This record gives sequence, structure tokens and C-alpha cells, in this order.
Amino acid sequence: MSIRRLPPELINRIAAGEVVERPASALKELVENSLDAGASRVSIRLHAGGLELIEVADDGCGMSPDEMRLALERHATSKLPGDAIDQVTSFGFRGEALPSIASVSRLTLDSRVHGSDGWRIEVDHGERAGEGPAALPPGTRIQIEGLFDKVPARRKFLRSPRSEYAACLDSVKRLAMARSDVGFTLDHDGRRILTLQAADAPTRVAELLTHELDRHGIGIDCIREGLRLTGVISLPTFNRGMADQQYLFVNSRPVKDRVLVGALRAAYRDLIARDRHPIAALFLEVPLEEVDVNVHPAKTEVRFRDPAAVRGLIVGGLRHALDEESQRSAAHEQAAAPVMWTSSASYVPEPNPGLGIASLREEQRVFEPVTFVPQARAEPAVEPVPSFPLGVARGQVAATYIVAEAENGLVIVDQHAAHERLVLERMRASREGGSIARQALLIPEVVDLEETDCDRLEGAAGELAGMGLEVERFGPTTMLVRAVPAALGKTDAAGLLADLASEIAELGGPMSLRDKLDHVAATMACHGSVRAGRVLSVAEMNALLREMEVTPRSGQCNHGRPTWVKLGHSEIEKLFGRK
Ligand SMILES: Nc1ncnc2c1ncn2[C@@H]1O[C@H](COP(=O)(O)OP(=O)(O)O)[C@@H](O)[C@H]1O
Ligand SMILES: [Mg+2]
Repeated sequence: MSIRRLPPELINRIAAGEVVERPASALKELVENSLDAGASRVSIRLHAGGLELIEVADDGCGMSPDEMRLALERHATSKLPGDAIDQVTSFGFRGEALPSIASVSRLTLDSRVHGSDGWRIEVDHGERAGEGPAALPPGTRIQIEGLFDKVPARRKFLRSPRSEYAACLDSVKRLAMARSDVGFTLDHDGRRILTLQAADAPTRVAELLTHELDRHGIGIDCIREGLRLTGVISLPTFNRGMADQQYLFVNSRPVKDRVLVGALRAAYRDLIARDRHPIAALFLEVPLEEVDVNVHPAKTEVRFRDPAAVRGLIVGGLRHALDEESQRSAAHEQAAAPVMWTSSASYVPEPNPGLGIASLREEQRVFEPVTFVPQARAEPAVEPVPSFPLGVARGQVAATYIVAEAENGLVIVDQHAAHERLVLERMRASREGGSIARQALLIPEVVDLEETDCDRLEGAAGELAGMGLEVERFGPTTMLVRAVPAALGKTDAAGLLADLASEIAELGGPMSLRDKLDHVAATMACHGSVRAGRVLSVAEMNALLREMEVTPRSGQCNHGRPTWVKLGHSEIEKLFGRK
């Protein structure tokens, strides 16, 4: 075995493997360089998702020909004037992006410092291919062609131009949100995709996230122990099947950080189904010494000195905001989003403009189509309506929906979804109060299950007992239920145990006990709830409405759907063409 020092070319290609994974990561490095160069405008052109061409032009400080040559060398950077790697405020600092990209593509670097002439250097897969004068306005323009064309091992992992383009767009969005003071344009295959003027952060974020957040978003601004969190998050009822619309920033650097993603998840725990995801743009500001950005060559990961403090701020701050909004569901008539989160430390909601008919129609899709014969029982509307937010029950429709009259409109409640939520919150409140009310069964119930399910329930018996459910192994395939949580009321024990067993199997992974308990509680709550199809008395309906009004998070069911919707008087009038 003989040890040798690797030639610089090979070193660059090895580094390229870490720094540039695909067109989007090369693009990210180039745009970061433009931002570091003090650009006020960045223009981006892509062909075929960046596979054929990536061009980034800026009006930043530019480079002299000597600086350009140096910039293409490995570990050459202008961003660490001292040795203080822990005080980095620029995007770049490792000095490896340009040489890495140049080693796996054809790169053309044009640059011009204000007051002198432009210069061009061409590099073909790491080999200098020529230089000479170039005509361009002050600033820098870099073109990358045929990325990975000569690196089959990499090429193989590239996806279609379409999905490479999607990844590029995502990179640009993240950087454009990070630096709202900079203008951006993005062209793909000759088509203008984005035009962004310099703006404040809330305006920029609103431009890049779905406009629906105007109504379904919550502004965030909180400070704790030197950490500040600002941004906007979606109401739990406004969620997505993918976690692709979560934009997280630490000191203006876009990151994909596990601590932050985990905290975001935790804040929505049990407000949203496990396979659904909120939309969020969150900006965390922390003192430089609290965070290490030199963790990964692509610089998208960070390490916090005190991850628990960061998690605490995020979970606490978001949870507080979500609780405040909990009485409002996404289908609520009130316009919501105070998206101007940075304008003041505590926001003042905008006056309510009300919904137009078009959006009202959209909201009606919340209802399942009613395919059965409607059977309604009505109470005469005689007495004046007392000012309960959710109104007074007037009747039940299809044995599933409660119709109530409120001061300023009509409220429709999904009785099962609402009750399920109430049961969960009751169970949680009693758990947190330390006293779980149990209801012992006079005659223990015998439940037959698969042997593996019995094993799981037996293994979790201690935890379940802590929540008021006492189960005991009775035989290889039999469990005995001795007590159930009082909050559940009368329950189908066999169904509950079967569901809990599969719930426990699914949760087998590394979750905190608290998280697990919440999931188990949600499963129990579903079993203890008033089912759709049960006819309720007026007194029962009113009791449900009053309890919803005082229960936190009662605007959404445990799966993140709204539990109630409201038609304001003005909407009803519009529907009838009276307005
Ligand atoms: N668009 C640009 N405008 C001005 N200077 C640039 C630009 N892009 C790169 N440079 C210079 O080239 C150097 C090397 O860039 P890079 O390889 O990305 O490393 P890093 O950004 O980590 O310093 C930078 O430090 C900077 O001085
Ligand atoms: Mg760089």
C-alpha cells in the first residue's frame, strides 16, 4: 500500500460530491455568492431544470481578474478575514463551491469591478479553457453548462428536467425569503417564472407562499432568552400531504434542521393527522455563538449549543399562537391572517372584510355530500338568541350535524368530530392535572385479539393504566378490561383494544412517552365520542356547544378538519342575492 497526496483536480471532484448534488445545489451556491457580494438584484436563467444551463448574474461587488483566478482555486475565500469561523455572517466561508462546480461542468465566469473593465475566465471540467476581456455591467455572471455530463456516477442520480427544475425553484424561493431586501428574477426555458422586487420579509413570504395564508395563516412573533422567532404558520385545518412548504431559517440562512422540523411537528401534535403537514415560514434569530453553521459542506444543517431552548421557544411560541386561534377554524367566516408579523411585537388583527360568494362556495366542500334522506328535527326560533359564540341549537340534520343559530349567523357542527375533540381535551386535562378518572367495570370485559396484539397491549399496560385504561392478560389471545377512562363514557372495548394495539405497533419508533400518550388518547377519544348518526336531544346539543366554547383547540378535530363552520348573515344574504 502506498499513500499519496491526491492531485487538486481529484480533491475538487471529491468535494463536488458533497457540495453539489444536483443543479439545485449548484444554483444555491451561486446565488449565495451573489448575495454575499452585496447584490441588490439577482437574475437567474435555467434550461432543462438546470441540467443544460444554470446562469446567475448579479450587480454585486464583482472581482478583478486576479480575484477571479483565485476564486476558482480550492479553499480560496474572501469571507473569513480573520480566523473566526464561529462568527460567520455570510452564506459562504468554505471556499469550495466554485472549484467544485468547475470540476464537474463547463463554467464561464464573467466579472467586472465598478470603474474597470470586465474579464472572462472559462473552465472545462477543471481545466482552464481560456480567458479574455468581456463586456458586462459591473457585477458577476456565472454560467454552468452540462453539469455532471462527464460524471456518469452522478448523472445517473439526476432526475427529469422537471423535477430538477422543481428543486431549483425551491432553492430560489428559500434564498429569496431569506433576503427579501434583494430583487430576484427567475427564467426557465425562456419563460419568466418569478419577478420579485425588494420588499419587507412578510411581503416577500406572502408572495412566495400560497395566498390562502392570508386567511388561513397565523403571524408569529415571540422572543425568549435572547432568541427571537418570527414568521407565519398555517391554521391546523389548512394543511398539506407533504412537508414541502416548510421554510425554516436560522439567522437568515435557509436550513433543513431536525431540531426545527421536530419542534414544528410537536407544536401541531394532535391538531393535525400524522400524515398531514402545516405550511410555515419561520425565522429564528439566535446569537452567533449559540449556533455552529460549519456542520455540513452544503451548509443547510446547523448545530445549536442549546437545542432544548430552541425547541422550547418554537413549541411554546407556536402552541400559544395556535391556542389563541383555536376557536377559529379554517372554515370560519372571519378573515384571519395578520401576516404582517414583523410590523409590531404583538399583532392587531385586521378588520374583517368578510368572504365573497366564491370563497363561500369553496368552503361548502367541507361537507360530505349527503346521500341519505334528510331527517331534520327543528325547534321553533322563538326566544332571542343569547350571545353564545356558537349559538343555540336549533336542530339536527341527518343525525350528524348540529345546526345552531348565533347572533350573527348560522353555525353547523360536525357532532362526531367536535365530540371527539372534547373527549381528547378532557382526557388530556385530567392527565395533566395528575388525576385520571377511571370507571371500574362491574363485570370485567373479555376481549379476544391476535396474540401479537395481546403482547403489545400487555407491554403497554402500565402506560395505559396511567391513562385510566386497565387491561390484563387473560390468555394467549385474550385480554381483560377492568376499567376505562371515565371521560370515554360507554365504550366498545373490543374495538378500542384492537385499535390501540395497532396504534402501539405503529408508534413503536422513537417517540417520547408524552407523544405516544397523546396518540393513544386520541384513539381512545375517537371511541368515546358521539358517533355520526346518533340522534341528540336539544339539551345534549347545547351542552356540546357550550363545552366547545370553553375547550382549547375545539375548532379542529383530532385529524385537523374543522369541527364547525359558520355562515354569517351577510353570506346568507349574498347567497339569496339580497346584497
Ligand atoms: N458573484 C460573486 N461576486 C463577487 N465575488 C464572488 C462571487 N462569487 C464568488 N466570489 C468570490 O469567490 C470566492 C469563492 O467562492 P466560493 O467558492 O463560493 O467560496 P465561498 O463562498 O465559501 O467563499 C468568494 O469568497 C468570493 O470572494
Ligand atoms: Mg460560496
